Amino acid sequence: MKHPEIEKRIQDLLSKMTLEEKVGQLHQAGGSIVGAFDLSLEEILTMVQDGRMTEEEAHKMISNAKRDWHEDDLRAGRIGSYLGLVGSEEMNRMQHIAVEETRLGIPLINGFDVIHGFRTITPIPLAESCAWDTDLWERTARMSAEEAAAAGIHMTFSPMADVSKDPRWGRIAESAGEDALLNGLYGEAKVKGYQTDDLTRHDALAACVKHFAAYGAAEGGRDYNRVDMSPQRFEEEYLPSYERAVKAGARAVMPAFNDLSGVPCSVNKKLLTDILRRRWGFDGMTISDANAIAECVNHGIAEDRRDAARQALNAGMDMDMTSGCFLDHVKELVETGEVPMERLDEAVSDILRLKFELGLFDDPYRSGPEQEKAAMLTPAHRALAREAAQRSMVLLRNDGLLPLKAGLRIALAGKLAFEKDEMSGTWAGSYQPGDCKSIQDALDEEHIAYRAVAEDQPLPDCDVFLCAIGEGKNESGEAASRASLELTEADIALLKRLKESGKPVVAVVFAGRPLCLGPAVENADAILMAWHPGVEAGPAILDVLYGRVNPSAKLTAGFPSASGQCPSLYYDHIRTGRPAGKFKYTSKYLDAPVEPLFPFGFGLSYTSFRYSDISAVQTGLGIHAEITVQNIGDRAGDEIVQCYFRDPVARRVRPVRKLAAFEKAALRPGESRRIAFDIPKAAFGYYDQDMNFVIDDGLIEIHIGGNVRDTLQANVDYRSL
Ligand code: BGC
Repeated sequence: MKHPEIEKRIQDLLSKMTLEEKVGQLHQAGGSIVGAFDLSLEEILTMVQDGRMTEEEAHKMISNAKRDWHEDDLRAGRIGSYLGLVGSEEMNRMQHIAVEETRLGIPLINGFDVIHGFRTITPIPLAESCAWDTDLWERTARMSAEEAAAAGIHMTFSPMADVSKDPRWGRIAESAGEDALLNGLYGEAKVKGYQTDDLTRHDALAACVKHFAAYGAAEGGRDYNRVDMSPQRFEEEYLPSYERAVKAGARAVMPAFNDLSGVPCSVNKKLLTDILRRRWGFDGMTISDANAIAECVNHGIAEDRRDAARQALNAGMDMDMTSGCFLDHVKELVETGEVPMERLDEAVSDILRLKFELGLFDDPYRSGPEQEKAAMLTPAHRALAREAAQRSMVLLRNDGLLPLKAGLRIALAGKLAFEKDEMSGTWAGSYQPGDCKSIQDALDEEHIAYRAVAEDQPLPDCDVFLCAIGEGKNESGEAASRASLELTEADIALLKRLKESGKPVVAVVFAGRPLCLGPAVENADAILMAWHPGVEAGPAILDVLYGRVNPSAKLTAGFPSASGQCPSLYYDHIRTGRPAGKFKYTSKYLDAPVEPLFPFGFGLSYTSFRYSDISAVQTGLGIHAEITVQNIGDRAGDEIVQCYFRDPVARRVRPVRKLAAFEKAALRPGESRRIAFDIPKAAFGYYDQDMNFVIDDGLIEIHIGGNVRDTLQANVDYRSL
């Protein structure tokens, strides 16, 4: 929200700025790499692409290299922001140049991808979303903001609010799964956690909601690929999560790389101006994705970089992340009138507003090396990372083997059980090797004896096998799409080999996405989906396996039976005229089921819950529903109670189920509780053929249960009041 005092200061400053200085504010610079021979990041990437350098060599070079932060450009007022300048000392050095050596002393804003932790890496977002716990999401965001801000960072390129219905897309790892409501609530909690209600705090970060919009709907699950959908679907399934995160107060928004029905988001005026600014009233800053403005030439929507700059700025883009198109061309574009001066002033104002809101003009040096050191990876942070990991792991199968009894002789199999650094998962740019604990580390720490299974040795004598399978950290995330979601042949062979021994097998699955776990179901007695759990991976896994923690997480994306089910795997699909059935001419596959192997909302506990007495009535505000949930086992446990609805007859075909609300119930053995939900009437609305938002009279079914497949039903004859 605009603050009159800040607006006045912006106007004062704008009136003093030259055209060049205004353009400089729009430019976010990355640090070029200075090696033994001077190579730019772009040159290194080209060398990797054409095979002159391996990816590993490039990584080594990039992380060991010194960075050139283009000090002369900074002095000349040609840089408004940095991407990825990590470290308070270096940041303060640059900030001193900006504040003391530029003509107007405008401070820099420093952005970085703090996605699931900064130094204390917490579970990947897809994992953490399975906790269905807004309070946890906010607390882990707060912790990462404390660490990142101490390292000189002012803004994080998070949360990602991209609804992700296709697990082939590697960035599903960064999302809260396939549901719009969950992604919105996740985004909202993260924004609150990063920003607090006072951005001038030294431990606050500005949040940048990304990737606006529908980046998760890339065709074929291929990263950066086209997105094309009906406007109704866009409004109902994809926009709401960004809207919630933006309306939670996020001060920045990043348009996505992809095109949306033929118009790349970076130059998409409908998105950046009509929806974001006019409809939602957003008055923060927009910043392109990395190099995305220049890539509009590759899209074939811009003639050249100059044309791309013109289109992006006119569409509503404020800051150019690293492409340099704005820096090189905006001056001329304004001089020729191709970009109105008012539009440039607006963009500069949005950037200055955020700098004022962060308090950077009055207080530009927000941290120093001592604070930085003290903030990182504290025992309290490790404890929170462990709690987050415990609550993110989904128990998918248990034939009674878990929890493990103390004293069982363990044999440890699968390389991921030993590789601590794989536990960080994707997007952990400030992770330090050695910080994560593997399963092996945790067993050592707890002095639990184990034997390691070696490929070329006979199987060790043991009571139970713990077998780690799945993906390493580079197999999901950006540019890590997969055509096949099947387990590797090596993983399947290992599971079979262990099963043949006749000893019980626990499969611990590490991955950044849902995988086809059929072979694990066939060969393991228990399956724990551990995702990429972060620094406390091993200890949290043992907490769950030994029953010190009763698992409570539930899937936020269904797990496929076969890769070919994608992208039609998601739970809130619409109805067809020929729903899958035994009859041949129905909507199904010849060679795979249509249902996921593990459905949305699914997750086991070491206790069981019984649902009864569902009721639902219309109220002035919407629908009030209730259900009784009882813990019928002999352990305390948390149950995530999920409330869905279905509109059986409407003017457009509606989903078979839609999540409306959820609540976590902590229940002692034998305890039962009445859980109530109030669903606002807007939840039942949708867009008709002419894009009118309508709420129909008529039957609404309410379905409540512990996953989308197992629910009780109550009906409401809904009438507009
Ligand atoms: C990603 C963004 C990220 C940016 C800056 C891009 O490649 O798509 O999510 O914020 O890089 O690191």
